Amino acid sequence: MITNTELRELGNQFPNEVISFKQNVDKLYFKTKNNVVLELSVLRDSVLRFRYGTRGQLEDDFSYAISDKNIKGYNKLEVSEDVDNYIITTSKLVCKIEKKSLQKKIYDIKGQLINEDELGFHYEEFYDRGGNVVKMSKWTQEKEAFYGMGDKPMHSNLRGKRVQNWPTDEYAFAKDKDPIYKAVPFYIGLHHQQAYGVFFDNSFRTFFDFCHERHNITSFWAQGGEMNYYFIYGPKMENVVSNYTNLTGQAELPPLWALGYHQCKWSYYPESRFREVAKKFRELKIPCDGIYLDIDYMEGFRCFTWNKEYFPDPKKMVKELADDGFKTIVIIDPGIKIDDEYEIYKQGIEKDYFCKRADGPHMIGKVWPGECCFPDFTKPEVRDWWADLYKELIGDIGVKGVWNDMNEPAVMEVPNKTFPDDVRHDYDGHPCSHRKAHNVYGTQMARATYEGVKKYGYPKRPFVITRSAYSGAQRYGTSWTGDNVATWEHLWIANVQVQRMNLSGMAFTGSDIGGFAEQPNSELFVRWIQLGVFHPFCRTHSSGHHGDQEPWTFDDEVTDITRKFIELRYTLLPYLYTAFYQYSTEGLPIVKPLVYFDQNDPQTHFRTDEFIFGNKILVCPILEPNSKGRRMYFPRGEWYNFWDNTCFSGGKEMWVDADMDSLPVYVKAGAIIPRYPVQQYVGELEITELKLDVYFKHGEEISHVYEDAQDGYDYQKGRYSYRNFKLTGKKDDFIITQHKLGKYNTEYDYFKINLIGLPFDIFEIEIDNVKVSLDELEFDDTKTNFKITKDFSEIHIKSNNDR
Ligand code: GLC
Repeated sequence: MITNTELRELGNQFPNEVISFKQNVDKLYFKTKNNVVLELSVLRDSVLRFRYGTRGQLEDDFSYAISDKNIKGYNKLEVSEDVDNYIITTSKLVCKIEKKSLQKKIYDIKGQLINEDELGFHYEEFYDRGGNVVKMSKWTQEKEAFYGMGDKPMHSNLRGKRVQNWPTDEYAFAKDKDPIYKAVPFYIGLHHQQAYGVFFDNSFRTFFDFCHERHNITSFWAQGGEMNYYFIYGPKMENVVSNYTNLTGQAELPPLWALGYHQCKWSYYPESRFREVAKKFRELKIPCDGIYLDIDYMEGFRCFTWNKEYFPDPKKMVKELADDGFKTIVIIDPGIKIDDEYEIYKQGIEKDYFCKRADGPHMIGKVWPGECCFPDFTKPEVRDWWADLYKELIGDIGVKGVWNDMNEPAVMEVPNKTFPDDVRHDYDGHPCSHRKAHNVYGTQMARATYEGVKKYGYPKRPFVITRSAYSGAQRYGTSWTGDNVATWEHLWIANVQVQRMNLSGMAFTGSDIGGFAEQPNSELFVRWIQLGVFHPFCRTHSSGHHGDQEPWTFDDEVTDITRKFIELRYTLLPYLYTAFYQYSTEGLPIVKPLVYFDQNDPQTHFRTDEFIFGNKILVCPILEPNSKGRRMYFPRGEWYNFWDNTCFSGGKEMWVDADMDSLPVYVKAGAIIPRYPVQQYVGELEITELKLDVYFKHGEEISHVYEDAQDGYDYQKGRYSYRNFKLTGKKDDFIITQHKLGKYNTEYDYFKINLIGLPFDIFEIEIDNVKVSLDELEFDDTKTNFKITKDFSEIHIKSNNDR
C-alpha cells in the first residue's frame, strides 16, 4: 500500500513561491515558480473548491459526482494581500494562502481557525502508471472528531483510523473491514462546536488518514488524477451535509410505497413459492409493499430474460400481485453471459459496448452466469442502450423497481475481486483505465438503470437499488449495505452504517434485516426488525442457503412483534415521508446521529447507538442478546416515552427497559407527529383523517407534514401540501398555528388531534379566534382527542386557571 510516509522517502514534491495571481470572477489562479497551479473557486460563501495541477496544467474539468443543478452564488468575494499571504474573504470565511508555499489556512468570519494545511498539497510522480500520486495533509485540532465516508463498518467517529475508497464485493464483511462496497470520499470535521466538510472528488483509489499515522495530522491522497477538493464550512453539521448534497445532487422523492416494508430472499422461485410468500403476508396481516426476485428468475442468470419453467407468465403474475398491493422488484447484474445465442450479448458485441483490456481483448470475468462481458457504463451510448433494455421489464411486464447488484464491479475467483487495472473505459469521452473508472462504475450502472426505469415507468417515480456507489449515487436511487451476517455485531454495524450513509448524502439506505449470511435466532431477528423499521430503506433479505427469514419463520411471538413494528412504520409513513421530502429538497439526513442533532454537546461526539429518526423521534436499538433494557444517552431537552407518554429531561445517560416486544423510542417535547392508520400496503385505505400526536412543551417547537399524491410528478408542479405547525406551550395556554404551502388537496378533511402531556384541564378552545364548543369538536372522554378541520390557522387552548 502506498502511504504518506513511504512516499515522502521516495520524493515528494511541493509547490514553492507564487509568481503569478489572476482572478476571473469567482475563480482565482495561482502559479508557483516550480509550475504548480492552484485554481480556487468560490462556489458559495461557505463552499470553496481547490484544484491543484502540476507542470502548469489542470485536467479537463469533468466529474460524475457534481450535479449540474448545484446552486452557486455568494454574497461577498474580496481578495487582498499582505506581505506573506493572499487573503480571500467571503461573508462566511477567510482563506489565507501563503505566498511562499501555497499552504492555506481557513478561518470563520470571527477569526476562529477552522482548517489549516500542514504540508498542504504535495505530490509524487507515479512513473509506472503515469501521472502523480496527489496528496494533502492538514493539522488536526486537539478534540477534533471526524464523521462521514459512506459505508465504513466502523465506529462513527473516524479519528485514529485510516480508510480507503475502492468498492469491493466483501461477502460477510466484518467490523472495521475496509474497503467494502461504496466510495464516498467525503468527511466532516468537528471542533470548537464548528463543523466543516471536505469532499475529495477524485475517482481513483483514495485514502484518508484521520490521525492514524501521525496523531495530529489528517491527510488524504489518491493514486492518480487531480488534487481536487471542496471545502464546505458549517458551522452546523446540517449546513455541511446539506451543502455537500447540493453539490453532489439531491435524491428524487421516491414513491411512498418504497418506504413500506420489503421482503427479499435469494431466491423466491418458482412462481408458486413467490406467490405463497406474498399471500402469507396478507393472511397474517403483516404489511408489505415490495417483494423481490433474485437471480433465479432469469434463464441461466442472463439479465433481461425469464426462466419460463419457473415463471411461465411473468406479466400475469406481476399484475396479480400488483392487484394485491405488491410491487415486484427484480435484480439485474452487470455481467452479461458470453453466449452467441443470447440477444443482449450479441447486441453488446455488435455495438462494441463491452469493456476491453488495454491491448484489445474483451474484459472477461466470471460471475453467476459463468464467463461474462461487462458493459462500459461510463459511455453515454452504452447507458442509453442499457436504459432501453428495461422497456419490456418495466413498460410491458410491469415490474416496479430494479435492484442493481455486483456492480463494484464484482468478479469471482480472482484475488482482487474486480477488473484488472488495465481495463479501458470511455469515462464520458475522457478515456482512462479502470484505476480511474472503478469507483464510479457501479454508480454509472445505477444511473443507466434509473434512466430506463424512469422512462418506461413514467409518470410513476422510479425505484432503483444499488450496492456499489460513488458520491452522487443518491441521484439514482436507494442503496443497501451488502452481504452482512446474522450476528449481533452486524446489527451494531448496520446501525452505524445507516447513520454514516445519512451523513454522506445517501440517506435512503438500509441493511439486510436479519443478516444475509447465516441465520439469526428469533431474538436477533426481532431486534433487527425493531431497528430496521426506523431505517429509510426497510428490507429483510437473506441467502437461501441458510434457511428461511420471513416474519413467520420463527414462532408466533416473533411474528406478532414483527407485525407490531412493521405496523408502527406504516402508521409513521407521513412522518417518514416528510423527512424524505426534506432530504430530497434540502439534502438533510433522514436518520440523524446524535452528534448531528446536538454537536455542541460533547457527550454526543462518541455515541454510536442512539439516533434521531426524522426530526423528532429518538431511537436506541437493543444490540445485545438477553437484554431487558440498556443504558442510553438522552440528548439535551425534554423527551416523552413513546409507549407510555411519560416525560423527562435529557442531557444524561439512563437505564431504559426494553423487553423483547419493546424498543427504546422517545419523542421530542413539542413535536407534532402525523400518523396514518395501519394499512397492508400503501394506498390500501383511503385516508379519511390524519391523526396528529401533539406532545406538549413549555416553549416553542416547529413541526412539518408533507403530503402529495404519493407517486408521480405532480408535486413538482406545486401539487403538494407542506404544513408548518408552530406549537407554543405555556402554563395555562397552548397554541398551535398552521401555515400551509402548496396546492395539493389531501383526500381527508379533518385532523384528529391527540394531545399528550397537556398540563391543565381544557376550559375553552378558540379556532381562528372563534370560541368553539367542546362538543362540536367531538372530544373523547379523556378530553385529549378531538377532531378539527384541516384548514385551521390557529388553535388556542385555554385553561381555567387564569380566570
Ligand atoms: C450478492 C448480493 C445479494 C444477492 C446475491 C445473489 O451476494 O449482495 O444481495 O442476494 O448476490 O444475487
